[in-house]
Amino acid sequence: MNTPVLDATPAAAAAHRSWPAEGFTRAPYWAYRDPALYALEQERIFRGPHWHYLGLEAEVPERGSYKGTFIGELPVILTRSEDGSVAAVLNRCAHRGNLVVREPFGKTQKLHCVYHSWTFSLKGDLLSVAFRNGLRGEGGLPKDFSMAEHGLRKLRVATICGFVFATFSDDTPPLEEWLGEVADGIRRVCRDKPLKVLGYDTQRIHANWKLYHENPRDSYHANILHTFYGTFGLSRQSQESGMVLDASGRHVYFYTKAGTEKDSADYQQTAAALRSHNAGLALEDTSILKWRDEIGDGVSIQILTTYPSFVLHQIANSLATRQLVPRGPDECDLVWTYFGFADDDEETTRMRLAQMNLVGSAGMVSVEDAAVCEMMMRAIGDGATGESFIEMGGRELDGGGNTKLSERAIRNFWHAYRQDMRI
Ligand code: FES
Ligand SMILES: [Fe+2]
Repeated sequence: MNTPVLDATPAAAAAHRSWPAEGFTRAPYWAYRDPALYALEQERIFRGPHWHYLGLEAEVPERGSYKGTFIGELPVILTRSEDGSVAAVLNRCAHRGNLVVREPFGKTQKLHCVYHSWTFSLKGDLLSVAFRNGLRGEGGLPKDFSMAEHGLRKLRVATICGFVFATFSDDTPPLEEWLGEVADGIRRVCRDKPLKVLGYDTQRIHANWKLYHENPRDSYHANILHTFYGTFGLSRQSQESGMVLDASGRHVYFYTKAGTEKDSADYQQTAAALRSHNAGLALEDTSILKWRDEIGDGVSIQILTTYPSFVLHQIANSLATRQLVPRGPDECDLVWTYFGFADDDEETTRMRLAQMNLVGSAGMVSVEDAAVCEMMMRAIGDGATGESFIEMGGRELDGGGNTKLSERAIRNFWHAYRQDMRI
């Protein structure tokens, strides 16, 4: 397909770029580098008709609690409002655009802008304006100024199992409808139990956000790249496993069941050549491998991704959300929020904390994901030439079925991306 790219952006159109004729089985490397494309992503994806993860309800536990976060480039405030509901507003003063909240977390009765002291409710309604009526009959706002029309920009908010999502768009379908079958993966992990935050970790990844977004959709790499998984048996291709996509192909989770190995001659032959199976490695302290099947279905790992910027993982008993925040075409932040349940006993909490060593910016498994994204960015260079090849499991959107040895979820990502971007 030789559709001109970025009809709305003359700079990119002038570059005569077009998507490869093979469609969603290829991703041209300019898509990870082009500043005009990045700007258009902010409009069509991050401010477009999708739900974006903001945080846990447990992070804003009391009336007046707030959290500063992002959707794409835009700063957003998640609050627990006066009536106890969660709300989200754009973190941009309705007067002249100052940042209203500067701290990552806090507690307040009202949202207050320091510049000229306009004050807003926790839902964003304008409550007061300094010198609204001027002084001694001079200055002040026009007589017909409407307080109701000058609140903070409100976002639609929805929650599932204590996770808060928001959208700028009126056209986004209800959250659970938007998630489709993948909502089951969230319910399976959380079982509607109250959550408890255990800690945070934020890493700057020197790579385009889409390189990281592809990574947890890429079930094919997990047992190949990650030495820890294969060597210590937490995840191997020979185990019972599968992949679930929603009908739109935007959201996906995959899972594996440790201890269900069915080794075939084929598998033995391949595994012998994988660097991820290294019999020479051993752990001095094996407690990190002791996971408890707390859900009772044998699933040792479940990685869930919603389009475009949310990940929920269960790796053994380690639980975390990952929020992907783009920081220009060449960088992104990944915010990890580790959690357990409010009714966890001390031993369970310690087990989750110990297993956190597997994940996060320096995790024995996860460190390799960011490293690969950064190495890809270096290899892509300026993106002027080349494209990735995405045919593992076939050339169709459903090619590969439910096997993890497939790039089906990545093909579906590029299909959805191109629809949204109209390229
Ligand atoms: S910019 Fe916030 S009160 Fe003026
Ligand atoms: Fe990985």
